[in-house]
Amino acid sequence: LFARPFAFVKGCVRLADLPPMDRVEIAFAGRSNVGKSSLINALCGTSGLARTSNTPGRTQELNIFESQSENLRIVDMPGYGYAKAPEPKVKAWTQLIHQYLTGRATLRRVYVLVDSRHGPKDNDLSVMNELDRAAVSYQVVMTKIDKPSAKELEANIASTYATIAKRPAAHPDVILTSSEKGDGLGHLRSEIALLLEG
Ligand code: GTP
Ligand code: MG
Repeated sequence: LFARPFAFVKGCVRLADLPPMDRVEIAFAGRSNVGKSSLINALCGTSGLARTSNTPGRTQELNIFESQSENLRIVDMPGYGYAKAPEPKVKAWTQLIHQYLTGRATLRRVYVLVDSRHGPKDNDLSVMNELDRAAVSYQVVMTKIDKPSAKELEANIASTYATIAKRPAAHPDVILTSSEKGDGLGHLRSEIALLLEG
């Protein structure tokens, strides 16, 4: 599945720009700077596929990537919780994220990325609430596990499992990743492969 290249298709600033609903879609959502674009690059094995940055707010559109061999579309989303951009822009992103996450019939799963140094924050919980309400399947992926100490990581994994317990649309397993070191990419790839089979 990830042996063949993925290609950038387009960036969308409104739902009307999205491609037709003719593929299985997965989306990567999470706070600004959590590592969404980096994880997509690591997953696809192409370093410059999605643009990444040290500065939060890098991804400003719904960026669409498609597999050249499989029926799969990956959506890189703008981050939420970013307060430094001009307010109308933040409002527009928030609305776009909300509309896309709750209104896209071909969206098979959302990967909700949570920074392993912090655990879930209030805006992560809001997104999970929204996905639960809309009955959109999601799975939490912890990012940057190369960063925290073993002790911090253990505590944040525990709080993440506590957060997803009893959430109807949440996958029961949390995926632990480092785009930098490559941890967890095999786990994530196998979860995505299962979606395509099912
Ligand atoms: P926005 O598009 O602004 O919402 O951010 P994003 O979630 O796409 O984050 P991005 O992938 O641009 O990464 C943000 C920063 O975190 C970059 O400086 C990355 O190099 C760094 N980063 C991402 N993943 C990892 C990781 O696994 N380990 C470490 N140490 N750094 C990471
Ligand atoms: Mg990004």
